[in-house]
Amino acid sequence: MKNQVRMGMVGGGAGSFIADIHRMAARLDKRIKLVAGCFSRDHQKTLQLGQELGLAKKRCYATYQEMLAAELALPAEERIEFVSIVTPNHLHFPIAKAALAAGFHVLSDKPATHSLEQALELQLLLRQSRLHYGLTHTYAAYPLVRQARFMIAQGELGAIRRISVSYPQGWLASSEDSSASNQALWRTDPAQAGESGCFADIGTHAFHLLEYMTGLQVESIAADLCAQVAGRALDDDGAALLRLQGGAKATLTASQTCAGLGNNLQISIYGAHASLSWQQEQPNELWLRRRGQPKQLYTAGVDCRYLAPEVLAMCRTPAGHPEGYIEAFANLYRDFAAVLRAEKSADPLFGIEAAVRGMAFIRAAVLSSQQNANWVPISSLLPAGA
Ligand SMILES: NC(=O)c1ccc[n+]([C@@H]2O[C@H](COP(=O)([O-])OP(=O)(O)OC[C@H]3O[C@@H](n4cnc5c(N)ncnc54)[C@H](O)[C@@H]3O)[C@@H](O)[C@H]2O)c1
Repeated sequence: MKNQVRMGMVGGGAGSFIADIHRMAARLDKRIKLVAGCFSRDHQKTLQLGQELGLAKKRCYATYQEMLAAELALPAEERIEFVSIVTPNHLHFPIAKAALAAGFHVLSDKPATHSLEQALELQLLLRQSRLHYGLTHTYAAYPLVRQARFMIAQGELGAIRRISVSYPQGWLASSEDSSASNQALWRTDPAQAGESGCFADIGTHAFHLLEYMTGLQVESIAADLCAQVAGRALDDDGAALLRLQGGAKATLTASQTCAGLGNNLQISIYGAHASLSWQQEQPNELWLRRRGQPKQLYTAGVDCRYLAPEVLAMCRTPAGHPEGYIEAFANLYRDFAAVLRAEKSADPLFGIEAAVRGMAFIRAAVLSSQQNANWVPISSLLPAGA
């Protein structure tokens, strides 16, 4: 296909979790082509995977630095245009910084960086450049999450009063789980994960979803984080109270020690006239409950004409043919390609602003928890204009 956006990837070697999802998502709409990569610290593993993916051997690089330099030396119409970052958290910032310095756009997985300071530095770098930065907050790219955002913005719920967002997982429920996989090893190590474990890993998704769907920013946080499993250096469970602009209140819980659970992210938003509820494990259902009326079920699909036009454009199959996680990721990739081709403007809620807010959320939650759940205003952590 002509005019495909050329992608290089860092991270995502054999046995990694999210990179294959990224690669499938990037391919789905044929807008993007993976042409280069440094998938692992082990060059042999990168070469092996690159061959399986059909990449030219010379574009399977030993280090990300080598990839950036070699790609820059290629003719402009051949070289990569953006770098997709799917490594553990501590590498997001150095890779993003180096990619921007080489003139490449960046699409990074979350959390954006290892620390709030790095996210703020990245924001300054982006302000000095004309390059684009995207953050893959997958859950906000499901069609019915967009529909909820649209309905809330239209005032269908009335003033938002309360939000309940919870994100329980169970895959780190026991002490053996800490070393049972590479994914667990780095997520429980502060040097690689950052100053938080569970709240950085999945709490950031819950925080982003809440701000994205309601269109309201969180102003301050009182949090109680803990390690339910003895011996862990980082939180694996926690709860927070949130105060939002305009007076709305929220509770946010995130845990990776809820034995038996998969990925049960769920959110309910309660307004003065109506409420909405959505669950990630049933992503094609959105419940609307209006005061004094029977509850209504919205479903996703290209033939669900009652959905907002921008939401219909995110669906690929008729109702009853479930779309899911890969398609949500594909929506982010398709949007990023459209931004790079100047076909649409970038949504700041998936850009560096969201990155900074996510990192500020982590810092506020950690600080609050260290201070016996004292309220921490997010603005107290950000410089003016961030
Ligand atoms: N958006 C989402 O829904 C979602 C879901 C899962 C993970 N994530 C994020 O994606 C990132 C990766 O998570 P994961 O679970 O796939 O991790 P993983 O451990 O499964 O994979 C990380 C990969 O990075 C590679 N890597 C490490 N150092 C490297 C280097 N210097 N150069 C090249 N490659 C290197 C490893 O070899 C490995 O293949 C994390 O930041 C995580 O928070 C996001």
